[in-house]
Amino acid sequence: MSYPFNLSAEMNPAVLPLDWLLETWRSDEPGEGFFPSITPFRYTETLHFSHVGQPVINFIKFNAFHAESKKPLHRECGFIRIQPGTNRVAFIIAQNSGLVEIEEGELTGQQLTLHSTALARTSFAKQLIFDQISRHIQLKPDGRLEQTISMALEGQPLTQHLHIPYRRTD
Ligand code: HEM
Repeated sequence: MSYPFNLSAEMNPAVLPLDWLLETWRSDEPGEGFFPSITPFRYTETLHFSHVGQPVINFIKFNAFHAESKKPLHRECGFIRIQPGTNRVAFIIAQNSGLVEIEEGELTGQQLTLHSTALARTSFAKQLIFDQISRHIQLKPDGRLEQTISMALEGQPLTQHLHIPYRRTD
């Protein structure tokens, strides 16, 4: 496939603090999903972060599958921006469930802590009332990446939904 842009573009200095996220990550052991209203489950997930030289990181692929049945589950894609001159980070996310989100937070070293600041759903998606979605992504000293997602729904305080470790693929 040919692309009308340079895939080997230099990384824009604005997003250099996020260079540790780039490329492809795959869960090396199943992630764990919980929530009081659902049956606990295990899942696998692939992440891919890239850039085209803009002051933005693209995450074109967050694809999750059921660990045992291999059925495709959750998918998201979007963009990451950093407010120039600060450590404030924003994720702009579209999810296959019909949810779109803005999450904002801080980059501290090689970890990101984010909280939803705006949420919207298609009119015909399941109309759950979200109070909050929180996400923590961290590069561990052993080279593993970990992601934890928590959510607060109406009547349910902030509770962990997901936790998963990944390793970078070759
Ligand atoms: C920010 C990301 C995510 C959000 C906001 C989200 C939100 C939700 C919500 C609101 C529910 C329903 C809870 C209820 O009915 O009370 C749910 C269920 C579920 N989620 Fe997620 N989720 C996210 C990511 C994921 C990911 C990455 C997976 C990976 C496999 C996943 C798998 C599931 C499963 C299997 C269920 C249970 C479905 C069912 O029993 O019908 N979710 N999620």
